This record gives sequence, structure tokens and C-alpha cells, in this order.
Amino acid sequence: MGCCQYFTPGENGADTFTVEMPRLTFGRGCLSELGERVKARGVRRAAVFTDRFVCASQHMEHAQRSLSAAGVDYAVFDEIRIEPSDESVMQASRFLSDGDFDGVVSVGGGSVMDTAKGAMVYARYPASFATYFAPPIGAGVPVPGPVLPHVACPTTSGTGSEMTGLSVIRLMEHDTKFVIASRYILPDEALVDPACTDTLPSRVVASTGFDLLSHAIECYTARPYTHWDKIQSPGARPMIQGANPWSDLHAREALRIADEYLVRGVSDSSDHEARDSLMWAATLAGMAFGNCGTHLPHAFSYGVTNLMHDVVTDDYPVPSPFVPHGISVILTSPSVFRFTAEGAPERHLEAAGCLGADARGATPSDAGEVVATRIVELMRATEIPNGLQGIGFAASDANGLADAVMSQRRAIGNAPRETTRDDAADIFESAMSYW
Ligand SMILES: [Fe+2]
Repeated sequence: MGCCQYFTPGENGADTFTVEMPRLTFGRGCLSELGERVKARGVRRAAVFTDRFVCASQHMEHAQRSLSAAGVDYAVFDEIRIEPSDESVMQASRFLSDGDFDGVVSVGGGSVMDTAKGAMVYARYPASFATYFAPPIGAGVPVPGPVLPHVACPTTSGTGSEMTGLSVIRLMEHDTKFVIASRYILPDEALVDPACTDTLPSRVVASTGFDLLSHAIECYTARPYTHWDKIQSPGARPMIQGANPWSDLHAREALRIADEYLVRGVSDSSDHEARDSLMWAATLAGMAFGNCGTHLPHAFSYGVTNLMHDVVTDDYPVPSPFVPHGISVILTSPSVFRFTAEGAPERHLEAAGCLGADARGATPSDAGEVVATRIVELMRATEIPNGLQGIGFAASDANGLADAVMSQRRAIGNAPRETTRDDAADIFESAMSYW
């Protein structure tokens, strides 16, 4: 392809990649198009998934008004919880099965959209819950076919779930989060309206902002798609296919936007330019990781959320203990990138440059430190906890955290260098504090 040496094929490596994405509409006020969009998909009666907090918001009011104006019948399911589990997804699935719906709308953050995706799969193709998850936790059965039309309307600027065929769900039996990955759960349309973020508290913008930032760096530094095995049939190509020229494009721009607007968007809710830009960056980063996959920071975040202690998080209306997803991701990221830089130093330096790092005179051996330093600067500027100790962990937890994450095989394999369980323990130990 000639665009980057990084994609030089490995022996028996993949030589093709696929780009999957929904139809995207972006801009202030586009939520008002919801009814016409749903109607144009041939939907007569829509299941509207949301959570109780979004349900009470003006965004939900706009969405409902738009559906009614277009003559679309609908019923609302507002019992989605933050950090969806197999139990909560099955509850949503039953709502879908019982309601004679021919389409789905999701209005909310990543938890809402991921629940909608999972609920559609189990309503259409009933199975034991682990069936569609990858081994070693699940049976690795592909989602068999299409599900209902889905219009996704994000209300936070981080998850990017509206742009991906991925659904992250906590499996209670194994006490870990795992991913269903299938092109069949890619939403048909995404309506991304930055006005939905105007009322987000500062702490939520910080967490979601670091989520998108890490999506972008992870994609840019992921193992190249050409270093995964060549696929034997088109249907066998995974959603998590590694870094590729498409994910590069979007990751770089998302990082440039995060550099310019993350601190502004967190510190001033009236800064529409910053909040609109962060919403666009989240969309771009979603386009990147939906076609690339993330790697260690996300895999490791599942250990952090599973083993967290008694953490109280401001601005999130959920019971303690709770660590927002973006925080659980970013707290290990500097330590992770110090480790992974050895596998792809130029990519780490380029990502750091996009994020505004001062990389003048830096050599490949400096790459990990340059990325880590810039992330830590942004963490401090937005008052993020100082590493894992900031949310109650101690160095003695590092081994337990490492044991909890090694089942995330595909994500760990998407890192640019091999990662053993001992490496993971060292990364967690180094992530305890940064300043
Ligand atoms: Fe994420």
C-alpha cells in the first residue's frame, strides 16, 4: 500500500483489511432527525433503550418528540445500568422479545448502546450467554446473522460505541468484562449530536475524554493488521484486526483534537467549541478502534474495575464502588506505553507528537517516556487520580490484577509486543503512581 512501513506484511500475515461503519450524521441539533431516520428504515415500532438519568433529560425529550412527530410508535426501556452485565443485558433482551418491536433506538453512553447491541443478539438468536464471546471465557460462536435496525444516539463524548460492532459486557460468573464482536451489531445509523454533552459534569467529560484519547493511542500503536494471520474466508476477518491505514487516519486526528480541547472541555461546560470537538474526536476514535481494536490499557482496565476497592466517584449517580471506564483505562496507560514502546517506537513517538508532546530530539528509546509524560501532564491538568493508588490499589495488588486480565487474549495480542503475565504484573506495579 506504500503508506507506511508499519504495514509491511509478516510471513503468512493478512494482506487485506475491511472498514465497517454506520451511516453517520454529526452536528448540533441532529437528534431532531431521529424520527425521520427511524421511519426511513421501515421501523413501525421502536424499542428505545436508555438509562434513568438520560431518560429524565431534555435529550430524551427531544428524541421522543422526534419519534412521535414522524409517527413512529415506541416504548422506552430505561433500566440500563452503567457497566452492563449478562443479567442486565438479558433483562433488556426480554423487553425486546416481548414488545413486538421491529427496530431499536439507543440514547445514552456506552453502557446503553452496548446493552442494546447485546439485547438484540440474544432476542434474535437465543443462546447461553457465553456462546457469542471469544474463548477462553466463551464458545466463540459467531453472531449468526442480522439483528433489528439500530439507530444509536450517544450522549457522551468518549465511548465511540455508536461507530463499532463491539459490545462490552460484564460476565458475572467470571467477574470480568468481555466483548461480543460482530459486524451484525454495528448500528445502522449514528446520530451524533454534541449538544447532548452541554450538560455533562466536568468529571464525566474528563473520564470520557481520556477514554477516547486512549482509544486513539492504542489504535495507533496496535499490532499492524499484516502481523495477524491471513484470513481463510471473508467471514473470518475479525473486527479486532489490528492497526491499518484507516484507523491511523482517525486516530491521528482524534489525538490532535484531544491535545487542543481536552483540558478546555473539562474545565468549561460553556465552551461549545471544545465540547463539539471532543464529540467529533470520540466519533473518530470510534471509527478507528471499531476497525482496529484496542490493546493493553483496555484489557487491563477490566482488571481494575473488577478488583477495585471502595471508590467514590464524583458526578456519577451510581453506588460505590465504581470507577468510570475512562479512568480505569487511563490510570494504567502511561505505564503500558512505557512497556509497549519497545515494540513500535516510531508509532509511539508519532502518537505523542499528535497529542502535543515535545518530542524534539527524542530517539526511539525515548518513545515510551515521551508518550507517558504527555498523558501524565493531561491527567494532572484535569485532576485525574494519581495512578492506581489514587483509587485505592497498592503494589501488593499487582499480581492479582495481572491474573485477572490474562484471559483478554485478543486485546493483549493486539499490543505491539508480546506481553506475559509477569509483564502485566510489572505494568500494574508501575502504574500505582506517576507524580
Ligand atoms: Fe473505551
